[in-house]
Amino acid sequence: MKNKQELCLLPVLVVACLVSKMGGSPLSSPILIGPDKAYLNSKVVFQCRSPGSPPPITYELLKDGNHLVATSNDLQDDQSATFSLKISVTSEGSYHCRVTAGGNTGLSGTVLLQVVIPVSGTMVTSDPNPPILYEGSRLVLSCDVTRGSHLSYTWFYNRQEVTSSPTSPLTPLLLWPVGNTLVVERVTAKHAGNYSCMAGTRIKTNSRFSSSGEVTVRVKAYLSVPQISFTISKEGSSYRGNVTCRSSRGTPPVTFYLFLDDKEMGSDVAMESLVAWFPVAIVPGRDMGVVQCRVESDAQRLTSKPLTLEVVPVGGSPKVDVEYLYRADSKMAAARLQCLLSLGTFPFFSWSLNGSILLHPSEGVSSHPSHALADEGRTLLLTEITLEDTGYYRCRARNSYDVTSAWVESEPVLVQVTEVSMTTLEVIAIVFCCFLMLTLAGGVACVMRMLNRQRGIVASSEQRGRERAANERRFSEHFCIIPDPLPLTDITTRPLRSQ
Ligand SMILES: *[C@@H]1O[C@H](CO)[C@@H](O)[C@H](O)[C@H]1NC(C)=O
Ligand SMILES: *[C@@H]1O[C@H](CO)[C@@H](O)[C@H](O)[C@H]1NC(C)=O
Ligand SMILES: *[C@@H]1O[C@H](CO)[C@@H](O)[C@H](O)[C@H]1NC(C)=O
Repeated sequence: MKNKQELCLLPVLVVACLVSKMGGSPLSSPILIGPDKAYLNSKVVFQCRSPGSPPPITYELLKDGNHLVATSNDLQDDQSATFSLKISVTSEGSYHCRVTAGGNTGLSGTVLLQVVIPVSGTMVTSDPNPPILYEGSRLVLSCDVTRGSHLSYTWFYNRQEVTSSPTSPLTPLLLWPVGNTLVVERVTAKHAGNYSCMAGTRIKTNSRFSSSGEVTVRVKAYLSVPQISFTISKEGSSYRGNVTCRSSRGTPPVTFYLFLDDKEMGSDVAMESLVAWFPVAIVPGRDMGVVQCRVESDAQRLTSKPLTLEVVPVGGSPKVDVEYLYRADSKMAAARLQCLLSLGTFPFFSWSLNGSILLHPSEGVSSHPSHALADEGRTLLLTEITLEDTGYYRCRARNSYDVTSAWVESEPVLVQVTEVSMTTLEVIAIVFCCFLMLTLAGGVACVMRMLNRQRGIVASSEQRGRERAANERRFSEHFCIIPDPLPLTDITTRPLRSQ
């Protein structure tokens, strides 16, 4: 029973004990005020306050537990002390202050101080380096500093800040700032440009920043398969061929090679463009061999289709093919005349109406503004056709590379312009008439067929009767038996007997 009472008293004793101990320091908790970040080599001030303590008071600034940094004896009655510190690399840590007054001691909370090394020597480094890369590859740009801590980074593309806002440059281009890097998983031509970064720290109102120089990112396009073509020109009495090799995509410099019958005939480095020309020997009417182009870059080698180097002189007799085009209201709108030429690799075309030449656009203004040439003169378009365009059209052709070569000319073709416009009502009437006639014709055909069938049935039964009689007659006369007419399939599938 006694034991139980003692047990009950225990918590009471513990609390009493604690109260008596606290009673030994009647100071209300001191307060330490100080910065959480400070630049290296800067000066900072810590202030320790102990309101309500009677002087004399001793203030001590402690770091990382019990390491005494400074002491101040406050003899005045403002109940606070300030400590001025010059920040060195070892200044980082947790600070608190201890106040002693009248034999009693109070401890403040802690202030964590981080030492910030001011930034300097910012520059952009790239992977790959130099930042010249093919579309689709990965680009990593890093914002590196020679010194600095607690940094944040800002990127610039062509001097404009890169942010996540929709108006920021490169926003839709999947570009991620991660830490001090800017990562582009698959570069496109749009990523090419000048990049720079800025690294720095902002401490209250005191910011320190350092900007890098610009790095120019170049994005190279992959080459497209080269296209090969050639032209011919006449100089004096001889001819000159000119082979063109061209890629539509790619980034120069690239090297073009020309092969004639698989033998390399020449090469050309295209520094700015994606085209190269090669002179070749050509004689019209002769097959000079097969040419092919190859284009090479540091990453690719592509070959064109083979092309036969043969110039067929213009020959044969051209024909004019006329096609009328109608408007929705069935009015004739235009006509397309095509000159069909069977022979000639490089033809030059010319057109005439009623024997007078229609001017080629390259030779001057046409007298007919509604005449248009297309397909290098091969097609004559009569747009906005009028009755005036009626007449006999002819086309002629000669070798384009030789002004002295002979013309071949087509037969005249009459282009008849009808200006009779059918109104909708007329069209409906015509369609209705056609429909009526069709129905009538169909009806007549039906009747005819029915009559025919009836006649056929009668005829066939009569015929069968006649045949039977004939067969019986043949039997009796010991003639050979003529079988019923066999279906055609039966005859053809029956094996032939050779006897
Ligand atoms: C990038 O920088 C180069 C060289 O400093 C300059 O010639 C070029 O115009 C710049 N490009 C853009 C898009 O600002
Ligand atoms: C081939 O044609 C191109 C384009 O017309 C021209 O620039 C080039 O000088 C020509 N080359 C030769 C060898 O005639
Ligand atoms: C061309 O000749 C035909 C028939 O002689 C004539 O009807 C037509 O008006 C002439 N066309 C031109 C534009 O002279």
